[in-house]
Amino acid sequence: MATPTAIALKIIDERHDLIIQKSSIHQPLQGRICIPGDKSISHRSLMLGALAEGETVIRGLLLGEDPRSTASCFRAMGAEISDLNIDEVRVKGIGLGNLQEPLDVLNVGNSGTTIRLMLGVLASHPGRFFAVTGDRSIRSRPMSRVVKPLQQMGAQIWGRQENSLAPLAVWGQALKPIHYHSPIASAQVKSCILLAGLMTDGKTTVTEPTLSRDHSERMLRSFGAELSVDPETHSVTVVGQARLKGQTVIVPGDISSAAFWLVAGSIVPGSELTIANVGVNPTRTGVLEALAQMGADITLENQREVAGEPVADLRVRHTQLKGCTIAGDLIPRLIDEIPILAVAATFATGITVIRDAEELRVKESDRISAMATQLNLLGASVTELPDGMEITGGKALTGTEVDSFTDHRIAMSLAIAALNAQGTTTIHRAEAAAISYPDFTETLQRAIGER
Ligand code: S3P
Repeated sequence: MATPTAIALKIIDERHDLIIQKSSIHQPLQGRICIPGDKSISHRSLMLGALAEGETVIRGLLLGEDPRSTASCFRAMGAEISDLNIDEVRVKGIGLGNLQEPLDVLNVGNSGTTIRLMLGVLASHPGRFFAVTGDRSIRSRPMSRVVKPLQQMGAQIWGRQENSLAPLAVWGQALKPIHYHSPIASAQVKSCILLAGLMTDGKTTVTEPTLSRDHSERMLRSFGAELSVDPETHSVTVVGQARLKGQTVIVPGDISSAAFWLVAGSIVPGSELTIANVGVNPTRTGVLEALAQMGADITLENQREVAGEPVADLRVRHTQLKGCTIAGDLIPRLIDEIPILAVAATFATGITVIRDAEELRVKESDRISAMATQLNLLGASVTELPDGMEITGGKALTGTEVDSFTDHRIAMSLAIAALNAQGTTTIHRAEAAAISYPDFTETLQRAIGER
């Protein structure tokens, strides 16, 4: 009789090895999956709630490590934020411009969104001094992409390597408005400048080469900021000296977390999964377009709008995928899903080429190098390109020891690859998944019928 797929966690000195032992037969994934709240929207709801007047109520907040970092930074600056739970988080805002000077260094942990968005807020709070740091990954990630435009607005920021690396020191100033033409399509850069513009007299505009995720624009509007968008030129303008008013925010499920199940359901024979309550904001649905190009069987059901964001249930059924090209304007709309799309490509027929994704090299890890080296250890055929990967699908994978590089999306992508790798795969430092998906392992166990 075939042994069932087994999933176990081994905890060594707070480091977690996720061990996935594949069944000798394919064991389909089945059922309905509820995914955690959207990470980008969770951060923004906590930040805008803290900066607004009155109370903000957040339902469905992501309880991952990253939003916890945002909450602890804004608590340290005077916002009253209740204990974080999924049902309801209450934020008593202190009003724009009223952040208190924190008594200690603000620590953003692993969260790039926290540090980059928060820098716009801190730089525009005159007369206060702030020091900001994070974990080893954060301290190696480029901050000049936000420091430079903020300096053009008159910000005073200091840090290592010509003010480009954390720890950073910020001496808040009254800033002047600018029109910033960003060289990269980055929602973190755009949002940082818009947040600085909120506190700045006049109109601040950001133009980006292609549209990045627009959660800030949507939420700033609902909190009462005056904002205009030019879709032709990918420009957003915010009118300064705004007053934000507390709101109720309902956070949809994170399509970046749903992507692991979309690929798992596509590659494991016999699978059929429904992923409930997924945010399908068009600036985030590149992964659905890429999987459609690969021939995936995914349908959107029960489409609706919840608190200003489009939401749907996604049904995925196993099918043989085929290789495709993922490049150009699509990249910013699926940037966080490229590691799991690389897994999909490994099990597709033919060649998949991913280009124009050099940004992956400066995420929580160098995701091009991490995915190429670790998938190749499992027996895949992945060639690194300077700005992407070329993947020849159809190679049989065999379990071995792989590493997450402490990057949540690498840990979870490798776990999904392991479902189709013969024998036993051990993923070192898999605890990183808790950054965006604290109960990933339990959900995986349920989907294969282990619990
Ligand atoms: C995010 C923007 C993206 C994304 C990150 C979250 C956001 O980063 O990769 O996970 O919430 O604004 P970039 O702005 O660097 O592309």
